[in-house]
Amino acid sequence: MITKYTSGKPIATGAVTRVLVPFPMDEFPFAHDVENEQLRFAFPMEPDAIVYGLGEAPRGINKRGWVYESYCSDDPFHTETKQSLYAAHNFLLYSGAECFGLFVDFPARIRWDIGYTRQDVAGVTVDGTDADIYLIRGGSPREIVREFRSVIGKSYLPPLWAFGYQQSRWSYPDAAAVDSVIEGYRAADIPLDCVYLDIDYMDRYKDFTVNEEAFPDFAAFVRAKKEQGVHLIPIIDAGVKKEEGYSVYEEGVQNGYFCKKEDGSIFEAGVWPGMCAFPDFMQPAVRQWFGAKYQALLDMGIDGFWNDMNEPALFYSAEGVQNALEKAAELQGENLDLSRFFALKDTFAGLSNAQEDYATIYHTIGNEQVNHQRVHNLYGANMTRAAGEYFEQTAGSGNILLFSRASYVGAHRCAGIWFGDNHSWWSHILLCLKMLPAANMCGFLYCGADLGGFNDNATRDLVLRFLALGVFTPLMRNHSALGTRDQEAYRFEHPEDFRDVIQVRYRLIPYLYNTFVKARDNDDLLFRPLSFDYPGDPIARECETQLMLGDECMIAPVYEQNANGRTVYLPEDMTLLKLSGTRVEKRSLGKGLHYIRVALNEVPLFLKKGASLPLCRPAPCTRDLNTEQLEIILA
Ligand code: GLC
Repeated sequence: MITKYTSGKPIATGAVTRVLVPFPMDEFPFAHDVENEQLRFAFPMEPDAIVYGLGEAPRGINKRGWVYESYCSDDPFHTETKQSLYAAHNFLLYSGAECFGLFVDFPARIRWDIGYTRQDVAGVTVDGTDADIYLIRGGSPREIVREFRSVIGKSYLPPLWAFGYQQSRWSYPDAAAVDSVIEGYRAADIPLDCVYLDIDYMDRYKDFTVNEEAFPDFAAFVRAKKEQGVHLIPIIDAGVKKEEGYSVYEEGVQNGYFCKKEDGSIFEAGVWPGMCAFPDFMQPAVRQWFGAKYQALLDMGIDGFWNDMNEPALFYSAEGVQNALEKAAELQGENLDLSRFFALKDTFAGLSNAQEDYATIYHTIGNEQVNHQRVHNLYGANMTRAAGEYFEQTAGSGNILLFSRASYVGAHRCAGIWFGDNHSWWSHILLCLKMLPAANMCGFLYCGADLGGFNDNATRDLVLRFLALGVFTPLMRNHSALGTRDQEAYRFEHPEDFRDVIQVRYRLIPYLYNTFVKARDNDDLLFRPLSFDYPGDPIARECETQLMLGDECMIAPVYEQNANGRTVYLPEDMTLLKLSGTRVEKRSLGKGLHYIRVALNEVPLFLKKGASLPLCRPAPCTRDLNTEQLEIILA
């Protein structure tokens, strides 16, 4: 049973699609009050209760023992001491003697103190007093998720080829570089469906342009790649370069489509192209305008996009830089003591994504000028909605791949997400695993992390182990940052090991795609914590390194370097499959703890009793998959 409580006059976020009659906050069953213009509420937590949720967020599957913030943040250091990542996914699920779900539909900052201040209390602080709170009671955790998902609408369904293996890098600078990646994969006989075009495909980082020197006759190039079975996926950034004569910028200025400052002038900040203006995606007319801009690339045969820098990321503002320089000038010739030195250093370090800059942005909502901080968490979601709604009206959204970095619940209906700039760290294999069920709870089914890790240099074994988890994530994309070691699968020693792992993905596509569609149609999770399925099993309840996948499988990736395998907990008798290329090794294992050996070219998968798993033959790309002839593995 879901109940909606309304406090004040909430700003419409678009998160919920089902109309519910609201109850006043007085009837909200948890202790609550308003202090300093903030709505606060709290609920007690039993010692053994688990708190799930918050979607793309740091730390564990069980969120207890930390304080989180919903505030979309461009922060490439996903350490366990962080409170927010790129998304604001305001759904919590409490599982104790009683279970309930909570969704706080509020577009600004929310603080979730899940037993950080007091271990037996969860305290939620909403940075405002206008919010809708949804409380879902009755049923199991899985039923509560389904109930929640049923009010936020069906998840985005990407085209089937988006389940193929994808290669990205910041950046493949020109057509020759893209060709050489495709040749590398084809020569090593490693399947591949997509190659990404990061910012350098554009003419000086201007959205919806193509650098014609680097990509002469882009449309013909896109077509030729598609004939090879490879889709090219360009990036689109939120900031629009400020440049006279650049039509996107000029149209935005003429029509008043950009975010403003309090005095009505256009808000500007520096991102990749230098000074940028930022489309005011809160306005429906702006969404329509910006969405239609994607047509320029669709016309050239492009059928997939990733939306980036849409928290929005602001490297600097002119005012910020000016202030910092003035501070530095004041200190010139002075003998800096420690505190002044660090204050100076922090002044420069704090230029990016500065709260002072966000606070100067204004949006037009109806006839009102609304400060950005009141709707911060909707910016990326609305950028993505602009594209998604356009595709829905034109190409049909299911034909276009679309995912975003920043997101809010609601964007799950038109796009997927990726988990942003992780690192080539072993701990980030598990971070990805832990975010999957939480993202699913919030409707984001099409998601995944940068496999191999984005920042820093990856090792061969890390990429292989990361890929072995990525075999199961709907978005299976290897991506890495400028200046880091090359991370394409064919570049490492013994590329045949990479072939073995990536081919497993292609063998599983019929199963994964069907399981995905089923999860979407039933408002269900693709990935579940073990505790959802085995609530009475104390070991399953605490498990943070394995997940249930669909109704048939359990996954347990190896996540440590130099490990030849790992310990796996089986909550019931299961069949272990070691999948490698076209090889399937099968072993029955009893309930309990097992150490299983997993070679670097193997993908472990556990089947529940009575389950059957269809496998097709691998192919160089999804287009060539024969899904009519399947081998069925019976547990
Ligand atoms: C951001 C994105 C990353 C991309 C880079 C350059 O850091 O998160 O994926 O490669 O920008 O566009």
